[in-house]
Amino acid sequence: MEVHMGDYSNMASYYDVIMTSGYYDYEKIVSSLISETPFEQVLEIGCGTGLILQELAKRQPHVAISGVDLTQPMLDIAQQRLKPFANVSLSQQNVCELTLRDAHDLAFSYGGVWYFVIDGDKEPFMVSHIPDDADNHKGFERVAQCVAPGGVLLLGIQGPHHNYDTVISNGMTYSQQIDPSPIGFTKHYYLKDGAQTVMAQTVNYRTYSFSEAQRMMAAYGFTYAPEQNRGNLFLGFKKS
Ligand SMILES: C[S@@+](CC[C@H](N)C(=O)[O-])C[C@H]1O[C@@H](n2cnc3c(N)ncnc32)[C@H](O)[C@@H]1O
Repeated sequence: MEVHMGDYSNMASYYDVIMTSGYYDYEKIVSSLISETPFEQVLEIGCGTGLILQELAKRQPHVAISGVDLTQPMLDIAQQRLKPFANVSLSQQNVCELTLRDAHDLAFSYGGVWYFVIDGDKEPFMVSHIPDDADNHKGFERVAQCVAPGGVLLLGIQGPHHNYDTVISNGMTYSQQIDPSPIGFTKHYYLKDGAQTVMAQTVNYRTYSFSEAQRMMAAYGFTYAPEQNRGNLFLGFKKS
C-alpha cells in the first residue's frame, strides 16, 4: 500500500530496529535538548514510537512531557514504551488540527513533522511531512497555540538525503530512494529480508527555502533565534 500524508503505518513495526541501527542517536538528541534553559512542560510533535521521549523521561522525571503523532501504529508502540513514566502523556493528533490544553515552554520536532536540512555551507531548507501549503500554515498556527509566549520551538537538523542501502542490526537490508517532485521530493523506504520486501513506504515531502520557512513561521509568532540553536541538531525559534 502506498501512503503519502506523513503516515508511517507501513513502517511502524520495523521503525525501532531501523532507527536504532545508527539512523538517529537518541542519547545525543536528548543531551542537546536539555543542554540549555530548563523547561517544565515539553511537547514533541511527531513523537513516533517514543524513542526520544523515553530517553527524555528517564533524564527529566519531573518535567511534564507530551507527545503527539499522526500514525496510530507508531503511537501504540510509544504507549507501551512509555507506560512506566507517569509524567508522559501521548495523543494521536494531526498537527494541522492540534489541540492541547497546556502552553508548553518547549516544543520540538526531530525528524517529525518539520525539519531542516543543512548541507555544508548552503542555506538550510525546511522539509515538511505535510504536502499541502495551507496545511503547513494550519500546523504552525496550531503549534503556536500550544507554546507559551517566550517559549521555544526547536526543529531538528538533518544532513542531505541520498540514496543508499545498508544492512541493519536484524540482518535485513534497509534502503531509501529519493526522487525530486514538483513540491520537494518523494522518499521511498524499503526493508528487505533476503529477496523478500517486508516493508515499503512512500512519503511526499514539501520543501521550503529558509526565508519561506521563516516567513511562514513568523506569521504565527515564531522568530528564528540562533542563540537557541542546539549545535548541529536543532534550529531554535522563539515564540512572541
Ligand atoms: C521519522 S518519524 C520521527 C519520529 C520520532 N521523532 C523519532 O525521532 O523517532 C516522523 C513521525 O512524524 C509523524 N507525522 C507525520 N506527519 C504528521 C502530522 N501531520 N501530524 C503529526 N505527526 C505527523 C509520523 O507519523 C512519524 O511518526
